[in-house]
Amino acid sequence: MTSALKPNDLDAHFMPFTPQRQFKKKPRMIARAEGMFYYSDDGRKMIDASAGLWCVNAGHNHPKIVEAIQKQAAELDYAPNFSYGHPLAFQTASRLCAEMPGDLDHVFFSNSGSESVDTAVKIALGYHRVRGKGTKLKILSRERGYHGVNICGVSLGGLYYNRKMFSGALMPNVDFLPHTHNLEHNAFSPHLPEWGAHLADSLEGLIQLHDAENVAAVIIEPVAGSTGVLVPPKGYLERIRAICDKHDVLLILDEVITAWGRLGKATASEYFNVQPDIITSAKGINSGTVPMGATFVRKGIYDAFMTGGEYGVEFMHGYTYSGHPLACAAAMAAQDVYKNEGMFENAAKLEKKWSDAFQSLKGAPHVIDIRTIGLMAGVELDPGSRDAPNEKSRAWEVLDKMFFDENIVMRFTGNTLAFSPPLIVNENQIDEIVTKLRKTLETVK
Ligand SMILES: Cc1ncc(COP(=O)(O)O)c(C=O)c1O
Repeated sequence: MTSALKPNDLDAHFMPFTPQRQFKKKPRMIARAEGMFYYSDDGRKMIDASAGLWCVNAGHNHPKIVEAIQKQAAELDYAPNFSYGHPLAFQTASRLCAEMPGDLDHVFFSNSGSESVDTAVKIALGYHRVRGKGTKLKILSRERGYHGVNICGVSLGGLYYNRKMFSGALMPNVDFLPHTHNLEHNAFSPHLPEWGAHLADSLEGLIQLHDAENVAAVIIEPVAGSTGVLVPPKGYLERIRAICDKHDVLLILDEVITAWGRLGKATASEYFNVQPDIITSAKGINSGTVPMGATFVRKGIYDAFMTGGEYGVEFMHGYTYSGHPLACAAAMAAQDVYKNEGMFENAAKLEKKWSDAFQSLKGAPHVIDIRTIGLMAGVELDPGSRDAPNEKSRAWEVLDKMFFDENIVMRFTGNTLAFSPPLIVNENQIDEIVTKLRKTLETVK
């Protein structure tokens, strides 16, 4: 690591989602990356066991993706997609839609998962309105859901500590389904929990409460990632779908984490064989290389907007960087790489190994639940009597030790440790992650 790469003053950076006073005292600094590995600023080679923030699906600095971005920057750095267009945005749209299940054949581009959620909600509201159903304004979400950080996403988010600071400014017309996490019934389910499908029926109750005439959409993550890897109970998503159909309510699956191979398929919708009306996506869409979000909609939804005079804008929405050339070039290259190098297949092939390896931690100190699906794992710890955030939680201690002592980069949410490597991970690396995690758990009091 050259000293030129070392920040000499950590003060100016107002950091996202970080206890920054603590970080700035003892930074966990990542200086470069390649494939499955990060390198710390003191030169240590570390396994990236979280694919960055669940996004680097093709592994770091993939040469084909790097080359595509470099070439694109030299050819067309930027062009607007408002009333103009550049060919790559259209090619990328067709290419990505071809990977979507069923008739999800149109896509709206943005720059992040949060924006893909805002876009989805606007599309849902607009769709009902253009069909003369303008009273359908209510969006139903789920406790322990995470839908990004814009006011819309925070309003739909089901974690109280993400909402508290902004509670006076949240969106109206939101209500919540119960979450499906239940230690008594579901702990240590190696795959889809057997218990909990009935919780989907509370959607029926919520729709009755608000009246279907007022309900626009339901948004849920097929597998909740950021809130602790919550795997849907067997049959749960199917029941949600059926209730939405019954009441003309759109089903938005937030696949910002689960799309692009995380479960060994292009989408979780395909994995679970459930057809949503809208899919939100970002992260792995271009392997996390250039900010990009994408909201996919069914044909009928797009068509509903295509009314009125031809010189009228059909959907009043868009971002300066919607369909940015660099993001599109990266997405096209990432899709090639996923296909040509069989990355989704590798994830699918390793699902059982991944699950067995993590489930073997049952009985390790402090572990009260392990949840696995695809290449996602959540290991929930008993917090003990530690008084977070005043005291370092067990999960914080694990993250710190894994980083400094074991050269593993991972994440946690609350008391759940979360793992989701690039899709190029191999069996030895899975064993190494789990062995080092066990060792670390054994040192935590
Ligand atoms: C399900 C889900 N939706 C939305 C988001 C927000 O994405 P972004 O951080 O790119 O805005 C995330 C981020 O983790 C997510 O997991």
